[in-house]
Amino acid sequence: MKNTRQTPLFPNQTRLLHGGDYNPEQWPAEIVAQDADLMDQANVNSVTLGVFSWCALEPSEGVFDFDWLDRMMDSQSEHGRYVGLATPTAAVPAWMGTKYPEILRVNPDGLRNRQGNRVNTSYASKVFQEKAAIIVSKLAERYTGHPALAFWHISNEYGGCCYGPESILAFREWLEHKYESLENLNRCWWTEFWSHRYSAWDQIFPPGAPLGETSIHGLTLDWKRFSSDQIISFLTMERCILKSYGPDIPVTTNLMGTYAGVDGFKISKHLDFVSWDSYPWFHGKPSELDGWIRTAFHHDLNRSMGDGRSFLLMECTPSSSNWYPTMKLKRPGQHTLEGLQAIAHGSDGVQYFQWRQSAGSLEQFHGAVVGHNNRSDARVFCDVKELGAKLNQLDGLVGGWVHTKVAIVFDWEVLWAIQTCLEYRSKTPQYTETILSFYRSLFDISIAVDIVDSTCDLTDYRVVIAPMLFMLRNGIEQRLASFVSNGGCLVTTYLSGWVDDSTKAYLGGIPEPLRSVLGIVPEEWDELYPDETNTILWDRRQFTFTTYSERILNVSATVLATFENDFYAGEPALTVNQYGSGKAYYIASRNEAAFTSTLMQQVMSEHGILPISNASHPVGVSIRTRNTPTETYVFVLNYANTTAEISLDEPNLQDAYTGELATVQITLEAFGSRVFRKPLSYC
Ligand code: GLA
Repeated sequence: MKNTRQTPLFPNQTRLLHGGDYNPEQWPAEIVAQDADLMDQANVNSVTLGVFSWCALEPSEGVFDFDWLDRMMDSQSEHGRYVGLATPTAAVPAWMGTKYPEILRVNPDGLRNRQGNRVNTSYASKVFQEKAAIIVSKLAERYTGHPALAFWHISNEYGGCCYGPESILAFREWLEHKYESLENLNRCWWTEFWSHRYSAWDQIFPPGAPLGETSIHGLTLDWKRFSSDQIISFLTMERCILKSYGPDIPVTTNLMGTYAGVDGFKISKHLDFVSWDSYPWFHGKPSELDGWIRTAFHHDLNRSMGDGRSFLLMECTPSSSNWYPTMKLKRPGQHTLEGLQAIAHGSDGVQYFQWRQSAGSLEQFHGAVVGHNNRSDARVFCDVKELGAKLNQLDGLVGGWVHTKVAIVFDWEVLWAIQTCLEYRSKTPQYTETILSFYRSLFDISIAVDIVDSTCDLTDYRVVIAPMLFMLRNGIEQRLASFVSNGGCLVTTYLSGWVDDSTKAYLGGIPEPLRSVLGIVPEEWDELYPDETNTILWDRRQFTFTTYSERILNVSATVLATFENDFYAGEPALTVNQYGSGKAYYIASRNEAAFTSTLMQQVMSEHGILPISNASHPVGVSIRTRNTPTETYVFVLNYANTTAEISLDEPNLQDAYTGELATVQITLEAFGSRVFRKPLSYC
């Protein structure tokens, strides 16, 4: 059941968080003293301490120094700031990596890394597990119950995997636990192919090494699952220690969007709230709408991974990032806009990497609230201060929820299965981009969506969109069937229902009950050359498609559109099937955006799903709402680099900062934003 209650990140949270990563251990006392005052000036009410602080906490083996952290925790408490206290396990001290080289990662070729960098240890290493358990226990013992401690921030951006001997043993154990017998494993992995049948567990090695096994799809997919599970089990180890000292103190870890190395839905089940790091302008320009839409998608994903409860934007940059291809500064207005976007989509705060720009090493030129110039009248500092002041006025929103009736399925295991089974075709599937194309079409018509995976409860939705549902797992086909039969609407596409959860093809095509739900059986699929296009005809409108088309046979569904050219001209390109009280659409080709928009508009209006707002506004303006038990907050966000005239078309909107009643017509400057309040109402 999706959340529709007010759920703050932690029980005593009364304010939206505003702050971020702070590393006082890098700085002398006089700078640290200045920071306390500067944070007050910048309206900072939260800090993340201790990320990467292991060598300050345990300067040599078994010798601990908590004095600096004691002082820091006390000082944050005196200043009324929330602390997210990190466990330092994302980077190990030099003494540890050199004394115990077996904790360091081994690459697919079998070469062990040297001490250095970060996230460079094996989650399977017993020594690393022991060392991590010691420091986590010490922190938990000392700071559980400290008045400043709001939540635990476990490690930092877990990721990657290790191909060392301990990982290989752990992988074999994981496989034995999963398959119980080699006979079963061989059957699921289809190992008679190329005579690859295993007769002993120790014949199995991880895939991916250039000189090693790469041809068994089941093995490759299981290695991805195992590597993700390794991360989750390390997190769980840390979590259990923290919870044994203070069961009520929430834990989180900062996730990384759609990063492929860990299943976001699965790891989120072990978190009390979800948090993530947003660095959107790596892939695009802040002046382009697409980047803002991608960021909105990721916020919605993170909210959904927490079953609709509020999440936390754990990191974003206050200005630029030194690892972006171009270190573009945020334009005036963009900082507030980026922060409010996160709040509108369900974040209970805006936190930064980093408070103070480090003087040396890899991230010395990464954006920070306080730059090397140490000035509180610098533009970035002023932008941060201004956003903080605005967030102070929005505290009533803490724990508020986003109302949705539509879900898009994005599934990490489907992503892995597509990457694995269609490896030869690696450039064509574009799974995540396809998901985004559906998200974009709904964003354009102002429809709020959740992002779900194959394990999620679908009962609260009216429409579920499941593009490229290549692999069926966890009984998703049964749940989709009952969802449709009970009146829901399913939209799915080409490349759906091809393989089971061990990557074996379904013989006879899409299995039951999905076949009956869709009323079709695809027979074969055609790939278009990169420069080739074709068209479909739907309701006398022509739409272009690229990349994929499928030939559909045995149609009991109604054909809505047909292909126009090639030997399959006249065959079904879009079908709809009545199943129980609901219906299911099947899209057989990768169509242009105009098609997706048209279909989405039709489906939404058929199912009574209204836009978030009826305001009229130019492209680039997005209106979002977030609810509390008594009020709806309305965010009007102008992502365009031009002034926008907006006709609000709603009475009773009160400016959330000034309390004034809104005029019907408002003007937003480039990257401008407004927030209004009104009595609780659902669209
Ligand atoms: C990540 C990390 C931070 C920092 C930033 C820089 O999100 O968690 O420690 O490296 O990137 O953008």
